[in-house]
Amino acid sequence: MAHRRRLVGLITVWTLALGAAWAAALTSERDWAFPGLGTISPKTAPANQVVGVPGSTTRKARARIADGTAAVDWRPAEHPPLPPAVARGAAGAYACGYRHLPSGEGRPENASLAGLPAQYISRQVAAFASGERVGMHPDWGPVSLMIQTAKSSNPKDVAAAARYFSARPFVARVTVVEVVATPAVTARGYVYARQAGPPVPIGRKIVETPVSFERFERRDPHVGYIAYVPAGAVARGAALVASGGAEGQPCAMCHGGAYRGGLGPPLAGRSPTGMVRQLMAFKSSARRGADASAMAAVATPLSEGQMIDLAAYLASRRP
Ligand code: HEC
Repeated sequence: MAHRRRLVGLITVWTLALGAAWAAALTSERDWAFPGLGTISPKTAPANQVVGVPGSTTRKARARIADGTAAVDWRPAEHPPLPPAVARGAAGAYACGYRHLPSGEGRPENASLAGLPAQYISRQVAAFASGERVGMHPDWGPVSLMIQTAKSSNPKDVAAAARYFSARPFVARVTVVEVVATPAVTARGYVYARQAGPPVPIGRKIVETPVSFERFERRDPHVGYIAYVPAGAVARGAALVASGGAEGQPCAMCHGGAYRGGLGPPLAGRSPTGMVRQLMAFKSSARRGADASAMAAVATPLSEGQMIDLAAYLASRRP
């Protein structure tokens, strides 16, 4: 247990260091898709304070919620018993269910695993472990943590976790809203959180923000998100999915009718920021290899603005 605590302490210090390095490195235009760690919890909140989330009778101490080695399960009645790697990380590493939440809803800074093919999930973990799949920005916290976790997990546990997540129904929690200006936000916990201040012109980006940052930080799987997108993005995206961009292959050809999955994974209703990051990753070869080659051809001719439009449209579809 002492060993476990030491490891977690190390991971936490390391995450904070990465967060600081990352904040300093935010320079290029497309960094909007990689919000930093920022200041997560109010400094005044004591670690032993016990809190809850709406609709759950469970109460948990803040310190327990911050301990990434075990899933924070507010709603155990909503899913079957958690497989070991989902519930608890091996040797002090993060639990899959901590980052991706117990039913695999995921969060904008990682991925929703619910409803993805089990083989696809296992293959991605193997690609992270082998170095075939890397982060677009190698020092962005969530991907670095995923790579560490992939390297410390064994294929049998990953396969059981993948089967479990695959069988969970995916529920879309994001509402896409077209705007000219967004509410004032700041990067916190690898997403955007509302803060006081006048509206800000959206420019060319997506600003995805939990409806309640407090519930987000407590890892409530039912928290909703608003994805602010540039005005006209959804209609432009609808035209692009049909034409398939420069590659000329409609997205539905591989991602299935209503984008609910086919040769490629389901996309409807998933985090638009996450989808843009993946399109950037295919284009930049951060995601590479035989399985990614179809997407490299699709993503390479896309401009960042087109990626935003595609993601806005796909996120607005219901799964
Ligand atoms: C020729 C088939 C094909 C076409 C056409 C295609 N995709 Fe894909 N897509 C795939 C495959 C296969 C994968 C999984 C790649 C892997 O295993 O690494 C994928 C993965 C993705 C992912 C990553 C999902 C995730 O979370 O891991 C996104 C986002 C995506 N595609 C978006 C699109 C969009 C947008 C279009 C249309 C512009 C499109 N795709 C067209 C085959 C295709």
